[in-house]
Amino acid sequence: MRHEISWRIERYDEVSSTNDIAYERALAGETEGLVVVADSQTKGRGRLGRAWFSPAGKNIYLSILLKPDEEKVGVIPFVCGLATNDAFKKFGLETKLKWPNDVVVNEKKIGGILCEYRGEGLVIAGIGVNINTSESEFPEDIKSLATSYLIEAKRELNRDEFVESFLTFFKLWYIKPHFEVVKEAKRRCVTLKRRVKVLLSTCAIEGVACDMDEKGALLIQTNAGLVRIETGDVIHVR
Ligand code: BTN
Repeated sequence: MRHEISWRIERYDEVSSTNDIAYERALAGETEGLVVVADSQTKGRGRLGRAWFSPAGKNIYLSILLKPDEEKVGVIPFVCGLATNDAFKKFGLETKLKWPNDVVVNEKKIGGILCEYRGEGLVIAGIGVNINTSESEFPEDIKSLATSYLIEAKRELNRDEFVESFLTFFKLWYIKPHFEVVKEAKRRCVTLKRRVKVLLSTCAIEGVACDMDEKGALLIQTNAGLVRIETGDVIHVR
């Protein structure tokens, strides 16, 4: 079994992106276990080149510098998602996973994960979690898709307490074998058994998300047969 990771937390008021700061720190010699937390981001980014809404004083923007064992690299997004679920649960909110990288409550996104693979085994895992943003504060284009702890639980949450709890759960999932991580992610994934449309870079496919394989790829039963998807944007059709 792998040694337990120990955390070193660096806090910033404002950064471009916590993922960039974590990477800069890695280049400067920082090792696994560095956690960069910012109060706001000026260039917070999401998957597929999207921007990540990152206002000050409201939510959590953090990045972790990791050097996982090779077989675990692919499941780091699930480790992040499971730890986010567990931390929310500790504060009384039930959340689920939407394949591949979203944390959701009733189809609305409360958290997003952006893992960047930087070579030589280095992974920067970036997690954005909506904590104390009210409905009126979300930009128009994401209002109907996003939610926060405040909206769901109808009370504010101390962000430092959430971060502490998230990091505790992260540690527990990180030391588990990758197949156990995938097994639990499957249990919590609301995408499975649903009819989905997956937007790939050049086309879209539609079918039923029937399973996830041991590497966490999504298996979709289409009219043309079984298709395996490693990454993409999934829309739940019904
Ligand atoms: C997504 O759902 O598209 C992923 C969103 C990831 C956002 C987090 S916030 C902390 C870290 N820094 C970034 O610039 N992005 C990630």
